[in-house]
Amino acid sequence: MGKIILTGDRPTGKLHLGHYVGSLRRRVQLQNAGDFDRMFVFMADVQALTDNADNPEKIRQNIVEVALDYLAAGLDPKLCTLYIQSQIPELAELTTYLMNLVTVSRVQRNPTVKTEIKMRNFEANIPLGFFCYPVSQAADILAFNATTIPVGEDQEPMIELTRELARRFNQTYGEVFAEPEIMLPENATARRLPGTDGKEKMSKSLGNCIYLSDDADTVWTKVKSMYTDPTHLNVSDPGHVEGNAVFTYLDAFATDQDFADFWPEFKNLDELKAAYTQGGIGDMKCKKLLNSVINRMLEPMRMRRRTFEQDIPEIFNMLKQGSDAARETAAQTMEAVKRAMQIDYFNDAALIQQQTEKFK
Ligand code: TRP
Repeated sequence: MGKIILTGDRPTGKLHLGHYVGSLRRRVQLQNAGDFDRMFVFMADVQALTDNADNPEKIRQNIVEVALDYLAAGLDPKLCTLYIQSQIPELAELTTYLMNLVTVSRVQRNPTVKTEIKMRNFEANIPLGFFCYPVSQAADILAFNATTIPVGEDQEPMIELTRELARRFNQTYGEVFAEPEIMLPENATARRLPGTDGKEKMSKSLGNCIYLSDDADTVWTKVKSMYTDPTHLNVSDPGHVEGNAVFTYLDAFATDQDFADFWPEFKNLDELKAAYTQGGIGDMKCKKLLNSVINRMLEPMRMRRRTFEQDIPEIFNMLKQGSDAARETAAQTMEAVKRAMQIDYFNDAALIQQQTEKFK
């Protein structure tokens, strides 16, 4: 079997720089490198509903936002299949069968789910659907026999569970599934981008995001107020780059070309860091550099976004076509699943024969 790349996002908000460095940028590179047999990228609306059951409107509004973010970032429906999870009922079907192969305590040990339960104050009352989403995520992956899952490191427990379920299924019913591999961002700073406030994670609920769709003025307002080094009070003071969000972002985004074009006094980030650490470099100058770096990266996305925004019905059409294509693949996998589980009664000539004999 060939290489099949699959990944997705919950459509609960517009995508931000954290999504971009953590996963989206890599997807576009993978897509353009073309070194795969099939690539699937989807909006995990079913998963988003597991903790937004009372707010489907939020999900509904963000389908097009996320689709526009995908297209603006450079995903191309001619090269990768873009689809919506809820439109593939086979995924729910597969989830049902996978649930028999895992215990409650196994899911309870999932550290990402544990954190989310705390964050959402679900401790006393966990919705069952939310609790089961790791199994549903395994189905998202296995239904396409995906081999390669580019995601952030918080998704590691999900991929581990998926591998276990693939093994359990194959042992129990016969070989159907490949064991997928996680593909983490190569660059450590890209694995978890802090918020503009310096907090651990960029996240919509913390209000510390720079969105891919932010215009240049908005980006500057946000960059200007970014968290840096609280001990760097005067320009002449030595500065710290560790824990300094401006430098973490420069790590994630700045290229040597950016230095040549925006701050030729330094050849690269290492030189700027050395100077900043010694003292004499003001935060404002670093922020201006970062602003230029981010805007250079976002400007082509903004332009593409504006083009796609001109024809929204075509976005829906594209997602419909992608969903139809994805469904065809998932349906083929489900045929193999049901055959392996011997619940393909109507195609099971041996069963029909046996039952005929039994009742003779
Ligand atoms: N859990 C992922 C997230 O929160 C989204 C997701 C759902 C996903 N199903 C997936 C990612 C399958 C990769 C593969 O971002």
